[in-house]
Amino acid sequence: MRTRLGVNVDHVATIRQARGTRYPDPVTTAAMAELAGADQITVHLREDRRHIQDRDLRILKETVQTRLNLEMAATDEMVGIALALGPDSVTLVPEKREEQTTEGGLDVVAQESALRAVCDALMDADIVVSLFIDPETAQIDAASRLGVQVVEIHTGDYAEADDDETHEDELRRIERAAEHAAASGLVVAAGHGLDYVNVADIAAIPEIEELNIGHSIVARAVLVGFERAVREMKDLLGAR
Ligand code: PXP
Repeated sequence: MRTRLGVNVDHVATIRQARGTRYPDPVTTAAMAELAGADQITVHLREDRRHIQDRDLRILKETVQTRLNLEMAATDEMVGIALALGPDSVTLVPEKREEQTTEGGLDVVAQESALRAVCDALMDADIVVSLFIDPETAQIDAASRLGVQVVEIHTGDYAEADDDETHEDELRRIERAAEHAAASGLVVAAGHGLDYVNVADIAAIPEIEELNIGHSIVARAVLVGFERAVREMKDLLGAR
């Protein structure tokens, strides 16, 4: 079975926000990702609005042709936004203001009762709920108890492994977690830090149905598109 690709366009918005311009627009990028075969568009609306804006979300809801997956913290503000918007799915992630990017999975075990109300409210509104968790049995079991449909396994420790032994250990952890989650009846997704070098081993895990990938795709786009972008600017300057 082919693994579905969710393309995360947050970092297109990061470039836009760096200058406060209208471009590059993550909405346009999402449409291009779909033309190239993306199965889903993923965006993280952060509390501090450092990249994706509320306006992006509103337009994406109107324009995404595949599926819109909203990553968000389990806060009252975000739950209100999700219920008003109605994305296809919500992925609940932990969020700290000072972090560079999402660090670690959600501690579902510790927050089970608080998460129950959030998950129930979203599922009652027909939104598929996914929990972003570390590859740990206890977290998967807690997600099962909450009755959510999907778990997304955090691949950050795997992606950051800087020697072969750690790489193998982290890969085995993810494989075991994926097997356990699938055996528990959960749809299994994975993501974070996946790139053009490390993705193959994860995509080969049969239980993993979906990968959400952002930073490496946006970074690659800068490089593969750079030469053309310079040529186009050069053309505007005219021949000498
Ligand atoms: N999945 C989740 C739940 C995330 O929080 C992120 C980062 O926003 C990603 C996938 C994508 O990670 P990356 O940008 O490293 O590919």
